[in-house]
Amino acid sequence: MARQVNINGALTPPAEARISVFDRGFLYGDSVYEVLRTYNRKPFALAEHQARLERSAAELELPLPDRAWLEREIHRTLEAAGNEESYCRIIVTRGSGPISLDPSLARDPVTVILVQPYAPFPERLYTAGLRVHIPRIRRNLRAAVDPAIKSGNYLNSILALAEARRAGFDDALMLDVEGRVTEASAANVFVLRDGVLCTPRLETGILEGVTRGLVLRLVREHDLPSAECDLYPRDLEAAEEVLLTSTLREAMSVVQIDDRTVGSGQPGPACSRVRGWLREHALASVREE
Ligand code: PDD
Repeated sequence: MARQVNINGALTPPAEARISVFDRGFLYGDSVYEVLRTYNRKPFALAEHQARLERSAAELELPLPDRAWLEREIHRTLEAAGNEESYCRIIVTRGSGPISLDPSLARDPVTVILVQPYAPFPERLYTAGLRVHIPRIRRNLRAAVDPAIKSGNYLNSILALAEARRAGFDDALMLDVEGRVTEASAANVFVLRDGVLCTPRLETGILEGVTRGLVLRLVREHDLPSAECDLYPRDLEAAEEVLLTSTLREAMSVVQIDDRTVGSGQPGPACSRVRGWLREHALASVREE
């Protein structure tokens, strides 16, 4: 089991991997990134992650390396790591140059691919469910730094998570400035109410999760009604189930929001069905490649 680092196409031992302190990713978070994982040693949903990387980069007018080149390098880095299952992070920064906010002065963009063994979440989080806190800090406005951009600046999520952890909770469930539910620090949210699986609309200002998109597709295929809508904390507190979804956690139940219990207070059947569908789909899709 190993870590591998690829910098601009060069496989570099992790202990020797270096980035300039003048890099704008370091100075300003002026970078984009993606996180994907493998199933049966193959990267899952690579095309969807590359497409989102391209959307994030386009929003920031940040140049990306060629798609086919990046895909080849991702495969090469995963193979070099040789892990049973891998976590893979792709980071592209605008590069370095004179210290200045002006992006036109940036030179030498850097592409880093980080691979390390995939570390599953502790099983107890699936069996007991998550306790989440609604933090004081609100999700960034779309008109400011759009949360749809997966940029290297994650302070909004970091501050929310820190607030939740300080209060003794597992994660933060962030609201927008109007009080609508957006997403967790690094996961999308779904709510089962009256038998319909609802999730906040993209227009609310959230990351368009690859897992979110897949869940919406899979529930349709399995005839579970779904909807994208505005949700408020009271909707979640009255729900049968609340779920968080992401590449790394698949689907996980939320059983408590601040001092309110969700549903029965135990992970529900919809969450385990959704997780089963996700795993089944992921394993089938890597088999087909
Ligand atoms: N994050 N929302 C936010 C803010 C996220 O950071 C993530 C994922 C998601 C879920 O997206 P996806 O289903 O595409 O993983 C939603 C990754 C896992 C991370 O930054 O580690």
